[in-house]
Amino acid sequence: STSYDAHLRVWRGDAGSGGLEDFTVQVNEGEVILDVIHRLQATEAPDLAVRWNCKAGKCGSCGAEIDGRPRLMCMTRMSLFAQDATITITPLRTFPVVRDLVTDVGFNYTKAREIPAFVPPEGVAPGEYRMRQEDVERSQEFRKCIECFLCQDVCHVVRDHEENKQAFAGPRFLMRMAELDMHPLDDAEAQGLDRRRAVTEDHGLGYCNITKCCTEVCPESIKITDNALIPMKERAADRSYDPLVWLGNKIRRR
Ligand code: SF4
Ligand code: F3S
Ligand code: FES
Repeated sequence: STSYDAHLRVWRGDAGSGGLEDFTVQVNEGEVILDVIHRLQATEAPDLAVRWNCKAGKCGSCGAEIDGRPRLMCMTRMSLFAQDATITITPLRTFPVVRDLVTDVGFNYTKAREIPAFVPPEGVAPGEYRMRQEDVERSQEFRKCIECFLCQDVCHVVRDHEENKQAFAGPRFLMRMAELDMHPLDDAEAQGLDRRRAVTEDHGLGYCNITKCCTEVCPESIKITDNALIPMKERAADRSYDPLVWLGNKIRRR
């Protein structure tokens, strides 16, 4: 048979205390980490806390760290690991633990709320919007995001640096701001919203030093760094250092 017993080391505890516990769990052919975690719940650890919904890599709920790397548990095949390996499963490190593998990802919702929404162009009805295909495709790539927050978890700016959380929105939300700033129909400026100023001064784009760890862990393979963060850095720099742009902004503000 193709079943075998896997060795899991799972973090258990809550905000106050916790530690790693060893388990041996049966694995069947084709299973993913989440299947094995569910079997563990059904057998030895009925009170193990784990968050999941879709089992299809689309809801973004089941993020955890497998041997220290952020992954979706439902999309991580057991066949990735040697059968005799000990697989360590820990909660996302950048967010506070609620219990076991469940963390409080509220930080991300706070950052999401700080970003003003798309501003529709005045005098153009929905349905009359016209965009170049290139611009449509750029937005579509960013909008594949399932908000799993694995990129937010891995980014060294906030991982182990609680003190940076206030000033840094993280790759997922810097990407959102880039999406809106590059959107040809976003009319934020008409409402006095300066997205380039905000991304730099309020959301800490300058903290990102392009390590690309966010891009490496994204389950949707979004090129966060190359297609959103680097272009946004260029756009924000143009605005700050081009004297004519600077003067234009000064005059408009009066
Ligand atoms: Fe997850 Fe990718 Fe979205 Fe980040 S950009 S939250 S890694 S889907
Ligand atoms: Fe962080 Fe990604 Fe920049 S991991 S440092 S946001 S390239
Ligand atoms: Fe939905 Fe894993 S359970 S992404």
